[in-house]
Amino acid sequence: MKRISIIFLLFLTVFTSQLSAKEGMWIPLFLGELNEAQMKEMGMNITAEDIYSINNASLKDAIVIFGRGCTGELISDQGLLLTNHHCGYGQIQSHSSIEHDYLTDGFWAMDKGEELVNPGLTATFLVEMREVTEEVLKGIDEQLDEKKRDELVKDNIKKLKEANAMDNGIDIVIKPFFSGNRYFMFFYEVYKDIRLVGAPPSNIGKFGGDTDNWMWPRHTGDFSLFRIYADENNRPAKYAKDNVPYNPKKHLKISLQGVEKGDFTFVYGYPGTTREYLVSDAVKLITEEENPIKIKMRTIRLDIMKAAQNLDPKVRIQYAGKVASLANGWKKWQGENKGIKRMNAIENKFIKENEMIKWMDENPEMKAKYSDVIPEYRKLYAELSPWTKQYQYYREAGMGIELVSFASRFQNIIEELEKEELDETKIEEMAVKLDKSIASFFKNYYQPIDEAIAVRLLDEYYVGVDTEDLPDYFTFIEKKYKNDFKKYVSYLFEKSIFTQQDDLTSLLAKHDKKFLKTIKKDPAFQFSQSLTNKSEEIKEASEDLTSGLQGLDRAYMQMQMDYQPTEVFYPDANFTMRIAYGQVDGYFPRDGVYYEHFTTLDGIMQKENPDIYDYVVKDQLKKLYQEKDFGAYANKEGQMNVCFAASNHTTGGNSGSPVFNADGHLIGINFDRNWEGTMSDIVYDPDQCRNITLDIRYCLFIIDKFAGAGHLVEEMSLIK
Ligand code: ARG
Ligand code: GLU
Repeated sequence: MKRISIIFLLFLTVFTSQLSAKEGMWIPLFLGELNEAQMKEMGMNITAEDIYSINNASLKDAIVIFGRGCTGELISDQGLLLTNHHCGYGQIQSHSSIEHDYLTDGFWAMDKGEELVNPGLTATFLVEMREVTEEVLKGIDEQLDEKKRDELVKDNIKKLKEANAMDNGIDIVIKPFFSGNRYFMFFYEVYKDIRLVGAPPSNIGKFGGDTDNWMWPRHTGDFSLFRIYADENNRPAKYAKDNVPYNPKKHLKISLQGVEKGDFTFVYGYPGTTREYLVSDAVKLITEEENPIKIKMRTIRLDIMKAAQNLDPKVRIQYAGKVASLANGWKKWQGENKGIKRMNAIENKFIKENEMIKWMDENPEMKAKYSDVIPEYRKLYAELSPWTKQYQYYREAGMGIELVSFASRFQNIIEELEKEELDETKIEEMAVKLDKSIASFFKNYYQPIDEAIAVRLLDEYYVGVDTEDLPDYFTFIEKKYKNDFKKYVSYLFEKSIFTQQDDLTSLLAKHDKKFLKTIKKDPAFQFSQSLTNKSEEIKEASEDLTSGLQGLDRAYMQMQMDYQPTEVFYPDANFTMRIAYGQVDGYFPRDGVYYEHFTTLDGIMQKENPDIYDYVVKDQLKKLYQEKDFGAYANKEGQMNVCFAASNHTTGGNSGSPVFNADGHLIGINFDRNWEGTMSDIVYDPDQCRNITLDIRYCLFIIDKFAGAGHLVEEMSLIK
């Protein structure tokens, strides 16, 4: 009797907490089985089949991987694609110059002829996904050594891909789920002619900049518009002037009805990486070793870059993308560390681990299976820790010097040229690629920044790593320059050909003996080689550890499932299509403070500061605000909503993801998480974790009223 009531109570608490906020990124294929009932309970009016179907057009057919790391969605029958401003940032930057500063001023194609071509940019549709666990794990016996197992898995994957290959340009990708306990196969169709249609000025699209990044309450109009083009058969094609706008199987309907607190929402897109099932030792390594080194090195780089940007508008454009992406990780890791500490995540995991050890004592069968897992983890992580530190310095300090990481790109061609038998076509191909990479490197390179950074990073590297663990090249710096890094750096930049665009280009054009000789004795190249040797040494030395950990992760995942047999587990994010659902909601960030679930244009006016680039408000926007000229996009009180917060579990990669209401209509674009919730890639706190969404009404208001590009809104399907 007592037992039943406890179980009932447990059930109730789990159930109610799940109703207010829901952790998890769910596989569309199993939505009907695992989530649909609960989603309906929470208010959803559509079915799992409306969301993912292989027989009928469903929402999935309107969602793409945008570029390599974001999500985008189709919002018209003419291939119009919506994503974040920060996802299109690289493209907007690449079309920008002092004369046409689209980053600062925005860009709007007033007809299709004005849309801008973006070489290399893709939009990838998921055609279908299938579970292939049995096929991938065929012939694998649990006793198999991890490396052999890996080989067999790779072999099975290769065979599976070959067996399913089609000659119609469909890409096949097979990925592990639940740490390799299950596998899924994905069929993708990749469109390659994607043109820029519109982007607001940065003081809308990136309003608040890196200061407001990862924060709620937020006022960023983080969107940009592109268009997918296809050949005359609506099929993917390389860029051609005569390509036509793509007609998608499905495009999203847009709701102008807005959101209220408590409304059901879901996010559908491509979350990149989460690690929710880690052992405590791993979380300790991340928060106490990795994150602090990364944060420290990036603080140095960012301070120097930003100072130079403030002095010169050309440099501001050149370094815009680099700073945005460096700052993004830099800030997230700080929030992550704070959140993990606040939640006592390491201790709590440790306690759970001890409970599992007790549980095993009472379950001989489980003990036989898993007794080694936790002790083994403890041992391997202790061994891994010094290598992790060396690796972080290699990446964030060594490779943080732009000149050196640029020089490292020449390593492959040099290796190829040193072979006895030369493969001319291969070398030619490499030279063509490098030629392009020279041009793009110098377009966004400002040497004084790099020199200042190099001096500081070398010093940090030298102090941070034990002398015997430093890359060999440091011996040279010590001998020749007595560790006077300033002196060494001026020599490096004076001597290296990698600072000279024209010389390097013409030398590469011949890629002969002279090229080989010059590059090989170049100091930047030599330094880069020494770094590469170091990273290979680290990789080799930690190979057994990482493969041991891979096996442990798989076992530990299964162990957690056996320990909590009634819990429904979701797989960690792995940049495959997922659905997260929750509710529009505010939160209490700290004692006595409550954050509302939405922001308005009033807040933009409150944050306005004409002296700070990211907080400038254009007169035109002020005028619209003062005249309350919001058209059909105002809320019921006549205000202009900007963003809203909700309890959907999202991560990097979910940027640009559509956010839907209960009817499956688009209500916003996901673009961030809140500061108090940035640890959700490792531990989720339903009380604190919120995703941040740009309200679709603000986006349409900017397109229509601010930019005067109402013809784009006319393409869309609005529900008023
Ligand atoms: N934090 C968001 C994400 O992880 C937005 C990043 C871009 N914005 C910025 N200010 N750097 O991608
Ligand atoms: N801004 C992130 C992205 O680029 C999404 C925010 C997050 O990490 O949740 O994907």
